[in-house]
Amino acid sequence: MSYGCPPTCPALATGPVGGEFPLGQLRRLAGANPGGGEEVDETRRNVLKLLVAGGVVAVSAGGLGAAAIQYVSKPPLVGLSSYPKVQLLDVDGSPLTVKKLMAEYDVTTPDVYTFAYPLRNEPNFLLNLAPPSGKSGGATNVVGGTGPQKSIVAFSAICQHLGCPAPAIAYYPPGTCSKTFGSLAFYLHCSCHGSTYDVTNGASNLTGPAVLPLPQVTLDWDTSTDLLYAVGVNGPPVNGHFDTLQGDYGVGATSQVQKQTPVVSCSF
Ligand code: FES
Repeated sequence: MSYGCPPTCPALATGPVGGEFPLGQLRRLAGANPGGGEEVDETRRNVLKLLVAGGVVAVSAGGLGAAAIQYVSKPPLVGLSSYPKVQLLDVDGSPLTVKKLMAEYDVTTPDVYTFAYPLRNEPNFLLNLAPPSGKSGGATNVVGGTGPQKSIVAFSAICQHLGCPAPAIAYYPPGTCSKTFGSLAFYLHCSCHGSTYDVTNGASNLTGPAVLPLPQVTLDWDTSTDLLYAVGVNGPPVNGHFDTLQGDYGVGATSQVQKQTPVVSCSF
């Protein structure tokens, strides 16, 4: 086909051939193979190599994508099927009795004491809100409290706002900050963005930005042995978990209390 081009038109001798232009890009013209041997279309070969390689990559990517979709729709299950009964141990590893707890901890204790339950990555505050022996103040008969004065409580130590863990979220004993809520001068406060929780009322919200209470651990006091056990969790899921029972391995039969220095910031 001349396409109106005279016989001497250079395009007819060396250029691509009309309607075959796209395919022509992959061809070596006959005139370019003066030896007359078998044509070796390097360009086409390279393109085919790329197509094959691309297909391999696509298949691999497809496989990875399918695996990712499968993971998202059905993540690996690591966790527990129900809440275990876990004995609490003191900081030194000895069994934590309520008598010991009442003597060691009270509403004025400034350090952060936590234990993991029910999973290894779910720390909880352990608090005794009773006043020091022979003194007034504090709180007794609180929501979910156990012990002789129903003053021992435990709450998740992971903030319900964006998940800052203890000691960034910490217990503030009376006098830590000038801020009070009516007569309530002790609370859990998060230094990350200022959320505050009422330890006398199920860790309900006193200030935001958190809008959910902290999950509360159900404590069981065995009065015959004086030992203390964690046996369940009430409230919303622990922050960062779709389900409080899913997301890590269980702590086992016992959980030891850890001591930390609180991060204090009176930002309400
Ligand atoms: S993470 Fe605690 S207030 Fe934001």
